[in-house]
Amino acid sequence: MSKILLDVLNGNPVSPPPVWLMRQAGRYLSEYREVRATAKDFIDFCLSPDKATEVTLQPIRRFGFDAAILFADILLIPMALGRKVWFVAGEGPQLDPLSAADIENMEIGDVEGLLGPVGQTVKNLSVSLPDETALIGFAGAPWTVATYMIEGGGSKDRWNARRMYWENPEAMARLLDLLADATIRYLIMQAKAGAEVLKIFDSWAEGLPPPMFEDVVIRPTRRIVDGLRENGVNVPVIGFPKGAGPNYVTYARESGANALALDYGLNTQWALDALPKDMPLQGQLDPAVLRAGGSALDVEVDRIISAFRERPHIFNLGHGITPDVPVEHVERLVSRIRGGKR
Ligand code: CP3
Repeated sequence: MSKILLDVLNGNPVSPPPVWLMRQAGRYLSEYREVRATAKDFIDFCLSPDKATEVTLQPIRRFGFDAAILFADILLIPMALGRKVWFVAGEGPQLDPLSAADIENMEIGDVEGLLGPVGQTVKNLSVSLPDETALIGFAGAPWTVATYMIEGGGSKDRWNARRMYWENPEAMARLLDLLADATIRYLIMQAKAGAEVLKIFDSWAEGLPPPMFEDVVIRPTRRIVDGLRENGVNVPVIGFPKGAGPNYVTYARESGANALALDYGLNTQWALDALPKDMPLQGQLDPAVLRAGGSALDVEVDRIISAFRERPHIFNLGHGITPDVPVEHVERLVSRIRGGKR
């Protein structure tokens, strides 16, 4: 049986399009919350192959999505650079804030050892997924991970990270190189373990002046893709430069990514006109529409399907699913997309 997600990533339009959802394993599922409750903390959860395998499979069993995304987190990589990461319930991720001086002495540790359990999860998944389901591995893009490291967690405008770029460009460049090189090793491990697609999440690619976008988004992403190819990893790479706006064009041309995930705010017609016609595009339903459900959901699903009809397209959200989404809305979404087919 062929995997239609891979067909699309090879440049062939499929109708109805394959579908999966960003953050499809998560708190909106009661069976996820049950497994989550058995883990000591979120990091331990991500590094427990049996638990991570189980929650990756849950949305596949329930909704029959065309792809599974490895359950892990983009903030595991800072651990491989010797940084502490922890999650506080209700507050999200926390890290020890990183200064320019810290970066000078920073080294890449034992990526394959520390993050080995993630490789084991990928191995488990590659033998337990249905034949028609593609397996996606992922990592955070260096800039997005760097913002969390410098800010010590999430932040409204990434002020300290943006300041560091302008005030201490060498420290920023070194941090991004270290992150890219650790990420190359991490993604090689995932591909060797059986990941058939790799996705690079640059969730904070918005609001960057052009030279900075080149330096912090394009260059490190290109370094990762080149590093993968040099090491014989030839699986398709989906890039997600969230909020990049017109910079999506630069990203499509220069980052090395094979396919683009579009965020929900990006103008659909503009994207269709401006992006290469043969480049597979993924997206771009607003997560708030999935929360709303009902006829608003139907209308938006139809609009997106029809807009991308002629193009290689993967249906997805334009950002992660929120914990308050009723599972009935996801069922409605999937059956609307498939229109009774498959
Ligand atoms: O199902 C999947 O998509 C696979 C697993 C996955 C998670 N995080 C699990 C997770 C993936 C691909 C991610 C990526 C990720 N993590 C991103 C990039 C995508 C995006 O959303 O922009 C980012 C920025 C992170 C960092 C992160 N992890 C934050 C900011 C948070 C807290 C916010 C929140 O939703 O609570 C996390 C925690 C996290 N990662 C959860 C899950 C399911 C929720 C934590 C829990 O279950 O307690």
